Amino acid sequence: EQNEAVDQPLKGKNVLVTAGPTVEVIDAVRYFTNHSSGKMGYALAEVAKQLGANVTLVSGPVDLDEIVGVEMVHVTSAKEMYDAVTTRFEHQDFVVKSAAVADYRPKDTQTNKMKKKDGNLSIEMERTDDILKTLGEMKQHQYLVGFAAETDHILEYGKSKLERKNLDAIAVNDISEDKHGFKSDTNAVHVLTKKGLEQSIPLKTKHEIAQDLWSIFTEELLGESK
Ligand code: CTP
Ligand code: CA
Repeated sequence: EQNEAVDQPLKGKNVLVTAGPTVEVIDAVRYFTNHSSGKMGYALAEVAKQLGANVTLVSGPVDLDEIVGVEMVHVTSAKEMYDAVTTRFEHQDFVVKSAAVADYRPKDTQTNKMKKKDGNLSIEMERTDDILKTLGEMKQHQYLVGFAAETDHILEYGKSKLERKNLDAIAVNDISEDKHGFKSDTNAVHVLTKKGLEQSIPLKTKHEIAQDLWSIFTEELLGESK
């Protein structure tokens, strides 16, 4: 029993992770999306599984294999991700939002292919709902984690998102440097928590980053009860 608490600290816990980009359709052949390979989110889901959790992975379109033993929910748009995550939120102990959600979508979606015309094209965009902010408002017992990719003012913007979205922790990527974030197999993040922890995790594989992050999150939520 002693060993189980150490090796499987997430045993019996429900974990929901989001990963990858969302894709917002313009017409039959065109779309808007964000850079995101999904690798960080998949690593977080895989490590949570290894630590004993019941894991749900809500994934945008990515080029990665499904993870055995993880409940996969495939979505495309920000709206679909919003619905998939908010309906499952109540039963979760940890929610980690590493997806790169589109902030805007085309106001009108054409089912046909648009034909080109002379001159410029303007596409009117409307805001998507902020999934993480909504979860922060719905939050009861859950430990809620956000991600942020920033090119500048890394800690300042990270801290403001932590507070504004009522998060327990945020992992901030510095995307001004190479090898961090997006398609890479490695990453480096700064972690800020509501309890006041500030920790830099230096460049390492996304799997190793996921292990470090889970050790921070489990310690903060479950530490006292161990
Ligand atoms: N996020 C979300 N729903 C959105 C936009 C973002 O849930 N519609 C989540 C992301 O999954 C991430 C966090 O919010 O965990 C921060 O995303 P980010 O793009 O860095 O922050 P924004 O609040 O969208 O602000 P901005 O893009 O202007 O920096
Ligand atoms: Ca954004």
